Amino acid sequence: MGRPVTGFSQILLQNGKDVVLASHGPVWASLRRVAHSAVRKLAVSEKLSDLADDVVNETVETMIKNEGIGKPFNPKTYIYMSVINIIASSAFGKRYSFDDKELKFYEESFEYFRANTNKLALTDRVPILKPFYANVVNKTEQTMKGLSMSVKQKYMDRLKVHSKGEIHDFCDALIEAKEEAIADEKESASALTDVNLSLVIMDLFIAGTDTTQYTMRWIILLMANNIEMQLRMRHEINDIIGDRVADYHHKNDCHYVNAFIAETLRYKGVGPLGTPHVALCDYELDKDSKYISALPGFTPFGIGRRICLGEKLALAALFYITVRLLKSTPDYVFALPSGEGTADLEPDPNISFLHRVPKPYEIILKKR
Ligand code: HEM
Repeated sequence: MGRPVTGFSQILLQNGKDVVLASHGPVWASLRRVAHSAVRKLAVSEKLSDLADDVVNETVETMIKNEGIGKPFNPKTYIYMSVINIIASSAFGKRYSFDDKELKFYEESFEYFRANTNKLALTDRVPILKPFYANVVNKTEQTMKGLSMSVKQKYMDRLKVHSKGEIHDFCDALIEAKEEAIADEKESASALTDVNLSLVIMDLFIAGTDTTQYTMRWIILLMANNIEMQLRMRHEINDIIGDRVADYHHKNDCHYVNAFIAETLRYKGVGPLGTPHVALCDYELDKDSKYISALPGFTPFGIGRRICLGEKLALAALFYITVRLLKSTPDYVFALPSGEGTADLEPDPNISFLHRVPKPYEIILKKR
């Protein structure tokens, strides 16, 4: 399965190849294989659960300090802080504090890009329209070029200091895969160039952050809109995890939390590049109140050869973030200023037609 070549993809890729934008072929297959292997290993590791626990706890402390209790605020910046820290630590070992300039730069770049994706997609497909939107399209292209160059540079910087056999993050994992392919004279070695691998890091950072942060926006909105479900999740987390750091085994036992996340993905899946699909039924627990992981029609990660390679990592990260958010706020509930059941659940029409994302909203932390 291919991807269309557009002016925008050429700006991001320059003369290299990546996974997200490349057409099916041996280069795409080799890059996808090494990226998938790095991502899959992290998804089931304790490193991810410890990282998410720490990052989200710090985020909630900052959020309570900045926003207080009982006052409405938009949680967007705090969601970025959690998700970017998890993905950036995993991809290139970088951790940001709330006021970090690079963190702000990434958040603003993603926001600007999404706010203008419709115009970019339109002028990419109908170039004759470009002069009518020249300013905004050029600025969007430059914004994403800046973001992608910053992320690609992280891989190039790591090349200079990487020690053989030491794998701390995706950058190290890709460098090792390249060196192994060269040493074993594998055919894939010609695809695993440093330019291509730096583009893979860009893919993982952009594809991972954008989708996961939008999904977290839906999760928080939906749990503030359904306090009973939020309390049921809090209850399950108390019973099964208690004071411990949530890990992969707990993830298998928290059926209600998993079902809530799966239902959010089914009902409000952000669907970045995949073709739209229709679910045949709502997400439900089975007759023994167990979460069923593969219902027919559940395709928030796409299907087929181009299925999201970050699915396992995304589900694990969404679980750890949701659990830590609730564990770090034991005396409060996430609520809507206008009351339960009042959320506007229509997707934001100003954001890309390829995406289903919530309109800007405010929440409050309310004493229980
Ligand atoms: C809730 C979170 C996520 C959702 C809903 C999601 C969804 C998707 C969808 C629908 C596709 C397109 C499939 C197609 O074209 O048929 C995709 C592709 C992709 N995703 Fe995700 N994704 C998520 C998180 C992640 C994460 C965490 C990563 C990695 C860190 C990631 C990496 C990728 C990559 C590299 C592709 C391109 C695969 C290819 O073209 O071969 N995604 N994702």
